[in-house]
Amino acid sequence: MNERINSVRAAFLAALGRATTEADLDQVRVQFLSRSGAIANFFEEMRSIPVAEKPEMGKLLNILKSDAQAAFDEKKGALSASEVSGSGPIDLSLPGRPRPVGTKHPLTQTIDDIKRIFVSMGFSVATGPEIETDYYNFGALNFPHDHPARDMQDTFFISKEILLRTHTSPVQIRTMEKQRPPVREIMPGRVYRNEAVSARSLVSFYQIEGLYVDHGVTFSDLKGTLVAFARQFYGKDVKLKFRPTFFPFTEPSADMYISCFLCKGKGCRMCKQAGWLEILGSGMVHPHVLKNVGYDTEKYTGFAFGMGIERTASLRYGVDDLRLYYENDVRFLRQF
Ligand code: PHE
Repeated sequence: MNERINSVRAAFLAALGRATTEADLDQVRVQFLSRSGAIANFFEEMRSIPVAEKPEMGKLLNILKSDAQAAFDEKKGALSASEVSGSGPIDLSLPGRPRPVGTKHPLTQTIDDIKRIFVSMGFSVATGPEIETDYYNFGALNFPHDHPARDMQDTFFISKEILLRTHTSPVQIRTMEKQRPPVREIMPGRVYRNEAVSARSLVSFYQIEGLYVDHGVTFSDLKGTLVAFARQFYGKDVKLKFRPTFFPFTEPSADMYISCFLCKGKGCRMCKQAGWLEILGSGMVHPHVLKNVGYDTEKYTGFAFGMGIERTASLRYGVDDLRLYYENDVRFLRQF
């Protein structure tokens, strides 16, 4: 019996070694460990062997049984772990799973495109804080105290002196304070105005500001730069015009218009029958502003401009409700 125990032990270990699947393993269990298996049969035989041999044989059988169970459990654990980690055979011919790729938000695309055009003309990009002081947002930009020009922009005040910037123009001041001319920067960023939200106005939106200050910068530089921008951004065939306007920080000041792309200038709902759409505000930097940052107004002149990004994007993509940009509806966003 002793010899047979040893040969069953060897047979069991060999079968266990060959097992590679759950099914193989189950066969090994039935053959050796189940109630009618080889090991159970030995215990059955124990009844008929001489009493003197019983303790010795019992001991051997118990060792066989517990060794076999331990080896079996270990193998079973290893097999299920390898199934979970997928380290089994790999089918290298399977096609990959496609992952959905997102797109950039239309406002980000618009900012990127505007930046690219101005960077190609030699501008660099600057940013400034969204929480500003009255001085940077108004005072340094030549808005006198108690002047009605401050009402052009409904301001969120945090305290008497601290506010949420209403435009990106304060970044002009911060840039010039840090740097001597030539200054050639564009300044994208978020701005805030205390207005009722509607299809045409938002409490928070993006602007992009531009500033060029150097020796002998003239109004024709302003026009040339902005016309070159508009032709690249809106297309070569677009008609352009400038119309005088007022900003405290520029003199003279001009709004720039493009011919309405919907009606080609005939007049429609989009352009409110005017045939023209305003795309940006601009002007020659007011000498008071240059003085406020310590620039010599005898030596330096400059121009500045600012445009709203949501509006710019809408003109380009034909979006008629600005709120759509902030609703994060993927059916809207996937179109860009
Ligand atoms: N800051 C102005 C606005 O928000 C735009 C502007 C910028 C006009 C620079 C002229 C020069 O309306």
